[in-house]
Amino acid sequence: MWKYSEQLMDHFMNPRNVGVIENPDGHAEVGSPICGDAMTLDIEVDDQDRISEIRFRTFGCAGAIASASALTEMARGKSLDEALAIKNRAIADYLGGMPEEKYHCSVMGHEALHAAVADFRKKSAEVAEAATRAAADAGAAGLTLRLSRPGKAVFAGDVADPGAFEKGLSAALTATLGRPVAVELER
Ligand code: FES
Repeated sequence: MWKYSEQLMDHFMNPRNVGVIENPDGHAEVGSPICGDAMTLDIEVDDQDRISEIRFRTFGCAGAIASASALTEMARGKSLDEALAIKNRAIADYLGGMPEEKYHCSVMGHEALHAAVADFRKKSAEVAEAATRAAADAGAAGLTLRLSRPGKAVFAGDVADPGAFEKGLSAALTATLGRPVAVELER
């Protein structure tokens, strides 16, 4: 039997941040080619590009559960780039060490986080492109796009009827992208 640290056993028996997020900003589903185990990971990202919420589920072993639990604790509150910089070795250290043979189990959580951030960035870019085009089509090309998120676009500037602009553009983006996208106009 593998020898696990107390911290690792604690994260295995009482994993933190298990579950899913409804309409997450970033979502990932990954599998380990070594053992066939699988994991999903969801993130929410605040307007400062920090991970405000993170949840995972896995059909993995004790090492995968504990390392994903540790990773979510380490990543929450960090900027996306800071979270992406977390190394597998740091996760193992956080858990008080990990048997070398089980090291590959922590790779799955790491890959899931990278994939969820990539999903968030791809969807944010889609919203930016679609929102800029829709604003131009609505005759509001002078607005500045301040922020784009998978479910939100924020503009700054003046339009004649801000309420109608927000509603109309939100409907157009929701139809184009096939998911709810709110539009806000900073006044
Ligand atoms: Fe599959 Fe650990 S043996 S993740």
